[in-house]
Amino acid sequence: MSAQSSVSDQQKRPAVKSTPTAAGGYLLQFAQTLNDEQHDCLIKEIAGIDFDRITALFAAKDVKDAGLKLANSAGAPTKLIPTDIATKNPAEFKRAEEAGWKALREGRVGIILVAGGEGTRLGFPHPKGQFPIGPVSNKSLFQLLAEQTVAISQRSRTRIPYYVMTSEATHVETVAFFEQHQYFGLDPADVRFFRQGNMPAVDQKSGRVLMAATHSVAFSPDGHGGLLEAMSNARIFDDIQDREIEYLFYHQVDNPLVRVCDPAFIGFHLLNRSDVSTKVVRKEDPNEKVGLLVEVNGRHHIIEYTDLPPDLAAQRDPTGELRLRCGNIAVHLFRSDFLKRMAEDEESLPYHRSSKSVPYVDDLGELVQPAENNAFKFERFIFDILPQAERPLAMEVVREQEFMPLKNREGLFSPDHVRQAMCQLHTSWLKQAGWTTADELPIEIPAAAALDAADFLARHHRR
Ligand code: UTP
Repeated sequence: MSAQSSVSDQQKRPAVKSTPTAAGGYLLQFAQTLNDEQHDCLIKEIAGIDFDRITALFAAKDVKDAGLKLANSAGAPTKLIPTDIATKNPAEFKRAEEAGWKALREGRVGIILVAGGEGTRLGFPHPKGQFPIGPVSNKSLFQLLAEQTVAISQRSRTRIPYYVMTSEATHVETVAFFEQHQYFGLDPADVRFFRQGNMPAVDQKSGRVLMAATHSVAFSPDGHGGLLEAMSNARIFDDIQDREIEYLFYHQVDNPLVRVCDPAFIGFHLLNRSDVSTKVVRKEDPNEKVGLLVEVNGRHHIIEYTDLPPDLAAQRDPTGELRLRCGNIAVHLFRSDFLKRMAEDEESLPYHRSSKSVPYVDDLGELVQPAENNAFKFERFIFDILPQAERPLAMEVVREQEFMPLKNREGLFSPDHVRQAMCQLHTSWLKQAGWTTADELPIEIPAAAALDAADFLARHHRR
């Protein structure tokens, strides 16, 4: 791409009208080459940037030391519902499950789906939620998740509000996709789409905001923690209040194995009167790249794997298990009043700085595709509100049953890997219910037929 232009073009173009802030003046270096529309867009984009904040974030020290301190003093969550709770303590499990169904039936539960990420690792040219992942049906991630909601909603004979966070990168296509597919059976009146904010990427050396084109800034979504501000801006909390929603089930768009609104999870959460509950899987390999849920002084924290030194990651307890082993799978249940309180406090979530490869336009107006990381992106993470939660609860689940996110184009967490995991899981449901299958046959069980193994067994047991 070049900023060079013909003389006649330049004559039509407006002069630079203003420099919104001296800090971003360099973003107007191609202004003379832009048409009116491009010029106005650029001015609007620049005016929306808080340069003081960007400068401070660029200058801020890495938070790795804090992560290290945390890891040294951290232990496993004390209130941890184990994976075998249903067989070890069936009465307690049943009580929780019934409490969860009751909350659902009474219409006290809503759903948050975060789908604003750019999905850069997957490299799919549409929002990740549109990726066709069903091993037999080819259904998209959006469809598989929405169908679970429809099934739960039918079983509990209630309406469940569905709050979908999108971003500048995903909004238009996502809304169109839902419309095109008749909302996958959801009632459109129960679905609210709202956009998260953007943050500009900056050059790693100079701290200058990067440009994606001569007329636009290199913005990217501000992280899943942008949820709080986005919910406030879109007045989602008013809707939550009007509908008297007390609990919000949070999940991410890339994990088709997630148990949407798992009644037992909801039940344990509300019986424990937790502000936040989190599902985890057991980390067995010290090198696994997964964030860890830990407890310090009765509060939950997430330590990112990048902040955990290898020797601490490899420490084992007397039973031989990893000392820090609760892998975060980004499935939470929030009390809605807690989430609202967090959203009212602008400082409740810090920004994290991460080094990324970001294409940019150089001083000659040429688009550069950097081979190495050249930029810092700034993101907020929703799990940073965890330390503020009272009576936090964790529930361990079996990885193969509930966690297989679509992240990469190839290898681990690739489409093939995810499809294979879905087939294995659903085949296991069939086998547990007494059915035999040909091993090479792909199996996929729709949410309308069963929500999990126990549900499948109850409904489709082979006599
Ligand atoms: P990831 O952090 O895995 O990011 O998001 P991603 O966009 O899917 O993929 P990469 O890192 O660019 O390859 C986990 C979840 O958080 C959402 C994503 O849509 C996904 O559901 N997310 C992430 C947002 O909603 N907004 C963001 O700014 C970032």
